[in-house]
Amino acid sequence: MQHIEKYMLERMHDYLKPIDTNWQPQDLLPDATTPEFFDDIKAIQETAKGLSYDLVAVLIGDTITEEALPTYESWLTMVDGQSKDEEGGWMKWVRFWTAEENRHGDLLNKYLYLSGRVDMRQMEVSTQYLIADGFDIGTGHDPYRNFVYTSFQELATNISHRRVASLAKKDGDTLLSKMCGVIASDEARHAKAYKDFMARIFEVDPSEAMIAFEDMMKKKIVMPAHFLREVGLNIGQTFGHFTDAAQRLGVYTAVDYVEIMKQLLEDWQIESIKELNEAGEKARDYLMRLPDRLLRVAERMKTPELEYKFSWIAG
Ligand SMILES: [Fe+2]
Ligand SMILES: [Fe+2]
Repeated sequence: MQHIEKYMLERMHDYLKPIDTNWQPQDLLPDATTPEFFDDIKAIQETAKGLSYDLVAVLIGDTITEEALPTYESWLTMVDGQSKDEEGGWMKWVRFWTAEENRHGDLLNKYLYLSGRVDMRQMEVSTQYLIADGFDIGTGHDPYRNFVYTSFQELATNISHRRVASLAKKDGDTLLSKMCGVIASDEARHAKAYKDFMARIFEVDPSEAMIAFEDMMKKKIVMPAHFLREVGLNIGQTFGHFTDAAQRLGVYTAVDYVEIMKQLLEDWQIESIKELNEAGEKARDYLMRLPDRLLRVAERMKTPELEYKFSWIAG
């Protein structure tokens, strides 16, 4: 972490945008100080009527996932080996990353509130639950596992926001499409950053980095909202319905999981990493074989058909 922190301090602004000129939720939302405000809301509600049930459900699940940002920030601050210096590379990155991410939930939440499609109270209860319940993603406080997880996860959110953007466009909601588009491009930048930091770890400690990657893939990368629930349900009971809807729409599928895995293998040039200890070699070979195995499983998976009535959706 000492090695990485120095590097992060030097490079973080290549991966984060200057705050003054970065997009803000207000750039994409009706301006409440103008006389057009109420007409703008009416227009949003008219267009939002055209969004499919599954798309609204997925968008709500995505929003709740973004809104659980306190969980991710507090987890990141617990990583072992960091300098614990507020101005050090790690803590500074965590703050700046969080500050960018915070716009995602903010924007989507305001859109959903204005859309008229959502039972906001139900959604808010789910959000409070998700933050209170936290998550268990199998990284512990290990920095290597942490960088593998964040690299994977930022790529996954890039895909899902991008897909929601194109589905929203298809359903006639160009504003929502734009919103998800700008969020997706943030996620892509963050993915690049985490992949770069992890690449530096592969340079200096290839065997342990490889073992960490193998371990995370053996455990499978769980989504950060895997504890998602609704009023009256147990922890995690809503999550499966949310991922079913995402799979049905093709917003995030088992094939995407394999594609992300492949991308990481390529970006970190796993195949050509030599000078590994025995466990490291085994880990590399396991990882190189994994995409084909996972793809065979993914191809056999059936698209879930069961329609589920989420308490979040109005009417
Ligand atoms: Fe995000
Ligand atoms: Fe993200």
